[in-house]
Amino acid sequence: MLGTTGATGEIGGRVARRLAKLGKTQRLIVRDPARAPELPGTEVVSFGGYDDPDGMVRAFTGITTLLLVSARETADRLEQHKLAVDAAVAAGVERIVYTSFIGAAADATFTFARDHFHTEEHIRTQGISFTFSRQNLYMDLVPLLGGDDGVIRGPAGDGRIAPVLRDDVADALAAMLTEPDHDAATYELTGPDAVTLAEIAAELSRASDRTVRYVDETPEEARASRAKYNAPAWQLEGWITTYTAIAAGEFNVVTDHVTRLTEHEPVGVREFLSRRSD
Ligand SMILES: NC(=O)c1ccc[n+]([C@@H]2O[C@H](COP(=O)([O-])OP(=O)(O)OC[C@H]3O[C@@H](n4cnc5c(N)ncnc54)[C@H](OP(=O)(O)O)[C@@H]3O)[C@@H](O)[C@H]2O)c1
Repeated sequence: MLGTTGATGEIGGRVARRLAKLGKTQRLIVRDPARAPELPGTEVVSFGGYDDPDGMVRAFTGITTLLLVSARETADRLEQHKLAVDAAVAAGVERIVYTSFIGAAADATFTFARDHFHTEEHIRTQGISFTFSRQNLYMDLVPLLGGDDGVIRGPAGDGRIAPVLRDDVADALAAMLTEPDHDAATYELTGPDAVTLAEIAAELSRASDRTVRYVDETPEEARASRAKYNAPAWQLEGWITTYTAIAAGEFNVVTDHVTRLTEHEPVGVREFLSRRSD
């Protein structure tokens, strides 16, 4: 029995549909069953989320391999992930496939990537099998980088990212979940090219009828331009360090892991944007 969390969301939902298509038996563990996809060979179990230890143990019992989709960003996300891992172990789950982030490290510039590193470390110490899927920025979010004024702003300098399409991530996760030999592996899922934000702005302009440009901010300017959102400090730091991590080269990672796992090439920025403008 495969278990999938996050199935009401983009990644988990895509993975669930792929597993159903492969004829696998799976359980979707969701907070709101009304929003779970209806799929053959699939049961839906509700729980209160990653801060509901008892609900998680109940929902995870009987599952051998669990896809643990990382939680939406909150101040206590790491604690929630640790509770989810502990519940999986208590429920007898044998393997966790965890959606992590490129460059996950204790001292990562991108503060949210530190949470991913510490979640990985917590999983490593449990004595169960695991597979880590470290993903670059989702390609699907690239069109949202520019504000209403057509400006992508942030302190990223001429650093590069290799965005990866959610569909490619889901294909790779389905392989990790259903094939043997992924134990203790860490994959880095990336698109085929590493591009600067100025290059992304040029591609967005080319693929649409508006001009998008990139403005390189200082970290202080980035804080000031986001002050209107009144975000808590942890969230503001997460937003800004996304860009300073790009500037530091921490997202400039291109691998062949999507191709190795899925036997197809990942979609690149230009292909993705021209598909959207068709
Ligand atoms: N690589 C990137 O560029 C990037 C960008 C943004 C986020 N992420 C990370 O990747 C994850 C998956 O991405 P996505 O696009 O599938 O996100 P998504 O569409 O927002 O889906 C997130 C899923 O996780 C569930 N979830 C979130 N927090 C939870 C919690 N505390 N307890 C239990 N379930 C929880 C949500 O359940 P509900 O429907 O009940 O809310 C939803 O099913 C995100 O959650 C985030 O950690 C990565």
